Amino acid sequence: MKHFISLVDWSGDEVNDLLALAGELKEEFAARGPRQGLRGKLLGLIFEKESTRTRFSMEAAMTELGGSSIFVDTGGKSLNAREPVKDLARVYSGYCAALVLRTFSHETILEMARHAEVPIINGLSDFLHPCQALADLLTIRETFGRTADIVVGYVGDANNVARSLAYGCARSGAQLRVASPPGYQFEPDFLAGVQPNEAVVQVEDPTEAVRGADVVYTDVWAGMGQEQESESRRRAFAGYQVTPALMCEASPRAIFMHCLPAHRGEEVAEEVIEGPQSVVFQQAENRKHAQKAVLWRLLG
Ligand code: CP
Ligand code: NVA
Repeated sequence: MKHFISLVDWSGDEVNDLLALAGELKEEFAARGPRQGLRGKLLGLIFEKESTRTRFSMEAAMTELGGSSIFVDTGGKSLNAREPVKDLARVYSGYCAALVLRTFSHETILEMARHAEVPIINGLSDFLHPCQALADLLTIRETFGRTADIVVGYVGDANNVARSLAYGCARSGAQLRVASPPGYQFEPDFLAGVQPNEAVVQVEDPTEAVRGADVVYTDVWAGMGQEQESESRRRAFAGYQVTPALMCEASPRAIFMHCLPAHRGEEVAEEVIEGPQSVVFQQAENRKHAQKAVLWRLLG
């Protein structure tokens, strides 16, 4: 059974197929409205962490494909606070056609996938955020007509969003240059495991990452679950803000991307996120279209 837990599990051809399908579904929805192929199918969403985009875009995607969804908020508690994940996996498998999980620990998603009888979709873990990366690639494709040979300069924490972007760029022929301060860079094992290896480069200097880049990307310095590190991270990431001056180092036709939520005045300047190069709301909308492609391939 196929899951959507990491883009590593999907080949380059499969990722390109998802992107093409997402584009078709987006056009089809604009022209003719919902298609009903997933009628009678139920999507379960179980979230340990807050969400604006992932929850809403997943429920919208499922609804617009004719299915329905049920959302469970664990209230910040771990999924297994009441019973083991392996029990939940078999219980939920009896109720729904697929499950979207948002968890603190990536291991929880893997444990669910080991025991579930329905596809598991990663709606963000501490390690990865593949749904975000797919929407990012769709946005890049819409802007430049391709993903191959596009250079993405990412400035900030080498976190879940950056890891999935790394896998996504590697799968779709783009190059990712990540600038992070020492202590917040990709783990050597992770970098060594990205194939093709030359698709991802880790540097320290933000200017080096964005010089001539087609895309400038950033994310928050302290993600969900890292709030107690906010102060130390603010110090570590001083100098890593995407400013108008940093944008000038990128290609003149470069776009600015951010997965949102954004912290203006920290990782990004107000003038950049609200400026003409910013595509952050197109990127947010594309979450829905990209996830429709995933749901269609897993359940259609
Ligand atoms: N980008 C993203 O995943 O947003 P949410 O945390 O609001 O779902
Ligand atoms: N890196 C952020 C992404 C939120 C969508 C976090 O994990 O909180």
